[in-house]
Amino acid sequence: MRRILIALILLVVAGAAAFWLLTTPTTIAASDLPDHTPDTANGETLFWAGGCASCHAASGAKGENLTRLGGGAELGSPLGSLTVPNISPDTATGIGGWSTAEFVNAVRHGVSPSGAHYYPAFPYASYQHMTLEDLIDLKAFMDTLPAVENEVETASLPFPFSIRRGIGLWKRFYASDPGFEPDPALSDLQNRGAYLVTGPGHCGECHTPRTLLFGMDRAHWLGGAPSLEVKGTVPNITPSEDGIGDWSEGDIAYYLESGFTPDFDAVGGTMAAVQRNWANVPPADREAVAAYLKTVPPQPAAD
Ligand code: HEC
Ligand code: HEC
Repeated sequence: MRRILIALILLVVAGAAAFWLLTTPTTIAASDLPDHTPDTANGETLFWAGGCASCHAASGAKGENLTRLGGGAELGSPLGSLTVPNISPDTATGIGGWSTAEFVNAVRHGVSPSGAHYYPAFPYASYQHMTLEDLIDLKAFMDTLPAVENEVETASLPFPFSIRRGIGLWKRFYASDPGFEPDPALSDLQNRGAYLVTGPGHCGECHTPRTLLFGMDRAHWLGGAPSLEVKGTVPNITPSEDGIGDWSEGDIAYYLESGFTPDFDAVGGTMAAVQRNWANVPPADREAVAAYLKTVPPQPAAD
């Protein structure tokens, strides 16, 4: 009896230790950052490609207001709704006091300055693929945006998801692959598009179906999915009959620029905010996205 008890206690302790180790946040130190002079013009491109304003500006914001990142909007998620934080350079209520390393750890590793995990509704499972240089540039650009004073209460999801530590386990599966490897089979333009789609553009977060654990199901990359934020579905954007196989590269680039499909339908749903951001991205980058989407393995219609 006593032996069984001791064995059980040891098992629980081992389990807790394993949980602790497996959920330990991965971060990088300031000394690991490359020696890089920030380029705010490149930072601006990444800001628009990254769609930071879609969540962190007031909902439905347009024009100048897209650069006012005071947060406070409610974001739907399958597990409940989250309030989006203030990421404007206000020092009291935003992230004005953050170091570059703190910023990089938040966006690339989903870890807060105090070492807590963020919920993956903040799409760091995609942003992890951004280069460190690009993140340094993005921070430098965001430092030039208006400081918005707006105190946002950080919400927590219902128990057990209120225990942020557990998110570390999810990250082991779905957000532990930082960086980006160009594909030697693709051209430079196509690889630029692959980087933009996979990393900053986080297109897969909406267009790729999820596994049972809510990770992106890479086997059905961009194959279309039920929406996690709102009712409805997100279309298949692979070059298949069920996707956008009949769109030319020019059609795709024009859609991102103007919001019009080849049939002259106007963009709607959650894509409208994505497109409003992409309208500000340099044309060559919209063309790169179009060139890459044409190379993605075609997927059949989503179930
Ligand atoms: C799909 C919505 C969404 C998009 C797009 C998004 N974020 Fe967020 N972001 C969130 C949510 C939700 C949180 C809070 C997560 C939590 O509470 O765990 C967050 C948190 C943050 C934080 C931490 C703030 C704090 O006070 O702790 C930073 C920094 C941040 N985001 C930067 C960015 C940047 C930079 C971009 C664009 C590259 C971006 N976000 C795009 C939803 C988003
Ligand atoms: C926040 C979720 C979300 C993100 C992120 C997102 N999309 Fe979309 N996308 C949608 C939705 C929803 C639609 C359907 C729009 C409509 O009904 O008008 C759509 C439509 C499209 C279409 C048109 C497809 C068709 O058949 O009409 C293309 C092309 C597209 N998205 C490309 C992209 C690219 C490229 C990215 C990344 C840069 C991206 N999307 C990121 C949600 C998203």
